[in-house]
Amino acid sequence: MGKEEAMRKLEERIRNCRKCPLGELRTNPVPGSGSYDAKVMFVGEAPGYWEDQKGLPFVGRAGKVLDELLAEIGLSRDEVYITNIVKCRPPENRDPTEEEIRACSPYLDRQIDIIRPKVIVPLGRHSMRYILEKFGFEPEPISKIHGKIFEARTLFGKFVIMPMYHPAVALYRPPLKEELRKDFQRLRELIEGQL
Ligand code: URA
Repeated sequence: MGKEEAMRKLEERIRNCRKCPLGELRTNPVPGSGSYDAKVMFVGEAPGYWEDQKGLPFVGRAGKVLDELLAEIGLSRDEVYITNIVKCRPPENRDPTEEEIRACSPYLDRQIDIIRPKVIVPLGRHSMRYILEKFGFEPEPISKIHGKIFEARTLFGKFVIMPMYHPAVALYRPPLKEELRKDFQRLRELIEGQL
């Protein structure tokens, strides 16, 4: 099965999913967007209001920050893949629960399997914790490990995990935007050097 077909089937499963209560509460599920051949995959937390309205990831205020950071290192949304660990909006944008993450994360696992990115960038602590644990690393506070490189190995080969702050921090803690900028520059160096 090609990537297109595999992704179409997966998106269909996400659209019909009722594995947790969020499936009944959301307006639209948000499977992800971008290139299925992306070398870089960004993984946020969960859709917010605008994502739920439009069915697309990171299209609200945090999304504008992400667009800006991508543009600064010469990347467009079309050449990366953007998704979340949880595909449906939690009410009032609360944090996703452990149960919701457990129910939804197999969709992210499958997306990683289909796309096979060279770099996974977890955005924020929920996504960082899930991805580091999944690939055998010990999660630490995001303030300590953002921008660091974790070399992971899977059946399909090696790839790198580079956790970062969630772009929304730039909205409520503006000094951290500088940290995000620096981490995006490191990402660019990594892409130029290795991919
Ligand atoms: N925050 C996220 O973590 N994901 C989105 O898609 C939007 C906001």
